[in-house]
Amino acid sequence: MPISLDLINAELARLEQSQTFKYEVPLQSAQDGVVRVNGKKVVMLASNNYVGLSNHPAVRRAAIEGIRKYGYGVASVRFICGTQDIHLKLEKKISKFLGTEDTILFSSCWAANEAFFASLTNEKLGLESYKDVLYSDRLNHASIIDGQRLCKAETTDRKIYKHADMDDLVRQLEEDKAAPYRFRIIATDGVFSMEGDLAPLDRLVEIARTYGALLFVDDSHAVGVCGKTGRGTPEAKGVHGKIDVLTGTLGKAIGGAAGGYISGKKELIAFMRQKARTYIFSNSLPPSIVYGASAAFDLLMKDRSIVKRLHDNTAYFRKKIAALGFTILEGDHPIVPIMLGEAALAQQMSNELLKEGVYIKGLWFPVVPRGEARLRAQISAALTRKDIDRALLAFERVGRRLNVLH
Ligand SMILES: Cc1ncc(COP(=O)(O)O)c(C=O)c1O
Repeated sequence: MPISLDLINAELARLEQSQTFKYEVPLQSAQDGVVRVNGKKVVMLASNNYVGLSNHPAVRRAAIEGIRKYGYGVASVRFICGTQDIHLKLEKKISKFLGTEDTILFSSCWAANEAFFASLTNEKLGLESYKDVLYSDRLNHASIIDGQRLCKAETTDRKIYKHADMDDLVRQLEEDKAAPYRFRIIATDGVFSMEGDLAPLDRLVEIARTYGALLFVDDSHAVGVCGKTGRGTPEAKGVHGKIDVLTGTLGKAIGGAAGGYISGKKELIAFMRQKARTYIFSNSLPPSIVYGASAAFDLLMKDRSIVKRLHDNTAYFRKKIAALGFTILEGDHPIVPIMLGEAALAQQMSNELLKEGVYIKGLWFPVVPRGEARLRAQISAALTRKDIDRALLAFERVGRRLNVLH
């Protein structure tokens, strides 16, 4: 063995000791409002299945239809022989839903975010010399951070602004105003997954315009979720159709299988088709996913009650859990952080809740700051009032037992 497995084992032991080891609890059923774990039915409060489409009959039917008509796999990247007409149709549908000019599909949003920054900034575009600059929210998702790491240091300055702090962003843009940057790119999540808060996109659109910057928004936790019709953070913040570049996943609200996209100006999308390495050198999305995601968008466009049910469930859970005496981060997103403080308590509480029939995950350092350990509840339209009430009852019992209610 050319590497020392002792070192690997020691690291695994360290992860366990520091309570940062990630255990996987297998579900014995489809992803849904109620799932089966250890042979028992439990209420699911940890999935990104926000509008309950992961196991929706119309989405399941569509996925099977996709296989029937177009086969199981495409066995190619897009530009060789992996583009089926259904890929182009789904790209059009996403553009229509988001109010953008064009869309390019990826195997995941991770792949989309990884491709975007380097594709743009590592190209000379005929210039002898140039420099680009990126401004990134401190709490941006790992895929944005890793995507930006692929930009060459000689030609890209990478800057971080304090979380959602527009004064800090403007201060940095002002400082750089006279610098001869080629591209200035502001990058933010639409919804931040640890806090459930929305980026101030209305301000960001204004700021990007003022400073000639391109605004990049990863709306993975918002499409199908935020805004009256589920168009995402731009709809919720009154700037639908005004974001330069949107990325997102098909692996959360949009059926929850896999897949991602970049959506925006047609020139940028055409450029990505030529330059994005995770698109050019990686397989096309399989027909089952293309059909399933397409059906998910159709459902969202046809039936407004789906998103409304999610919003109603969220408001109900937020009100009731706070009334029980738990401390939550205020907001209106279905991500509801229940603040506990210490990692051990969050871990104990999530274990106890599972025994009481509620599946919920704890988050602690280094995922969130030290002393801010929490449970992250994620509400879904797949939950009935009865499911939510059952979960609340379990919260009350466990909360009392562990003495965390105020
Ligand atoms: C904000 C954000 N962006 C991107 C991703 C990655 O999406 P995918 O699973 O499609 O790679 C996630 C998933 O956790 C996410 O939360």
